[in-house]
Amino acid sequence: MKTRVLTGITTTGTPHLGNYVGAIRPAVAASREPEVQSFFFLADYHALIKCDDPQRIERSRLELAATWLAAGLDPQRVCFYRQSDIPETPELTWLLTCVTAKGQMNRAHAYKAAVDANLAAGEDADANISMGLYSYPILMAADILLFNAHQVPVGRDQVQHIEMARDVAQRFNHLFGQGHDLFVLPQAVTEAETELLPGLDGRKMSKSYDNIIPLFEGGAKALRDAVARIVTDSRAPGEPKEPEGSALVAIHDAFATPEQRSAFHAALRGGLAWGAAKQQVVDVVESHIGPMRAHYEALMARPEQIEEVLQSGAAKARAVARPFLESLRRAVGLRPMLATPARSAPGSSERAAALPSFKQYRERDGLFYFKLVGADGTVLLQSLGLADGREAGGWVKRLKLEGRAALAEAPVQRVSDDAGVLEAALDALVAAQDA
Ligand code: TRP
Repeated sequence: MKTRVLTGITTTGTPHLGNYVGAIRPAVAASREPEVQSFFFLADYHALIKCDDPQRIERSRLELAATWLAAGLDPQRVCFYRQSDIPETPELTWLLTCVTAKGQMNRAHAYKAAVDANLAAGEDADANISMGLYSYPILMAADILLFNAHQVPVGRDQVQHIEMARDVAQRFNHLFGQGHDLFVLPQAVTEAETELLPGLDGRKMSKSYDNIIPLFEGGAKALRDAVARIVTDSRAPGEPKEPEGSALVAIHDAFATPEQRSAFHAALRGGLAWGAAKQQVVDVVESHIGPMRAHYEALMARPEQIEEVLQSGAAKARAVARPFLESLRRAVGLRPMLATPARSAPGSSERAAALPSFKQYRERDGLFYFKLVGADGTVLLQSLGLADGREAGGWVKRLKLEGRAALAEAPVQRVSDDAGVLEAALDALVAAQDA
């Protein structure tokens, strides 16, 4: 089985060069590995926790979708969707919420930081803290567990959330799995060493430090202007310069080939002026980013195309999520009601007697037929006449095993006009097979 890798991107803000080097580029590269099945989604429900400006939410979703596609994410290969297009996610969030200890949520870093800030400001501990922020880790657990992801690439600040997802998965498995694991326990994957790009001032590149280089926004000019503002030391042209520890060099190296790197380092040691060095950095970064930016701009001009890509991603994701959530609903007891209440004695003969059953027969026309008869004797499903008796038998077998999943293809007519009754009968048969 392939390793399932899943990650979400909160849709607030506009991506910068640090996001590209630290998250986007490695994720796109990893998604091309043959042995992985990747799920990437725009975490727009999470964005609502931090942002109540509809225009910004809308803009950021579009920018992020265009960025990931321009950076080479192949929506044919990976499942690329919006969190808010998957109604199974909030539904699973509730199932998980009901088994999550409140005390554990009290210990979530993001919530604790907000409480600490309130207390430091002399405010009430929970001032301005929404239930969304408080429950943030549960929504995130639902994102991950719904697709049974094995690996979740995230920044270090998110590792605790993955641990919480594991905990709640374990608890759910224990409570409802009846000895089987309903959920895979996910593992956080954090990028090693160099992937943290420094910003203009040498600290980690981050919007909150106001030290970013934009990825695409503002075009080549914004890139040039930002590189011009990278802080360097005061060594004059001609003086030897140490490449180690310089933000300018780190940014260069994140985009350069090994040959370009060593040539650049040697030139600095040989006295290359910072001004000329910055020009080289612009050239190297631009040669990498420029073609993607053109693609990004083309995508931004056609939002309806992006919409289409995301809709088909959502359809793919829901094909996985819907049947899985259905099985989780059953596991917690949200099951269809059976025609006859025989639940109290599972496996007993009364239970077997209460099940609907298939009848197979041959008519005078020489054709083979089958029908599904409910426990109370009503005919729920009637087959068409089939020339081959084995084919009729094959359909009966499939309907017993797969239930409603086989319904669309089967050569049958519904007899019961109450659709729910037929579905419940098939579900009961499938459940009896499973038992
Ligand atoms: N909380 C993550 C972040 O801010 C985004 C996110 C939401 C996520 N759901 C996820 C990441 C599921 C990984 C898996 O970075």
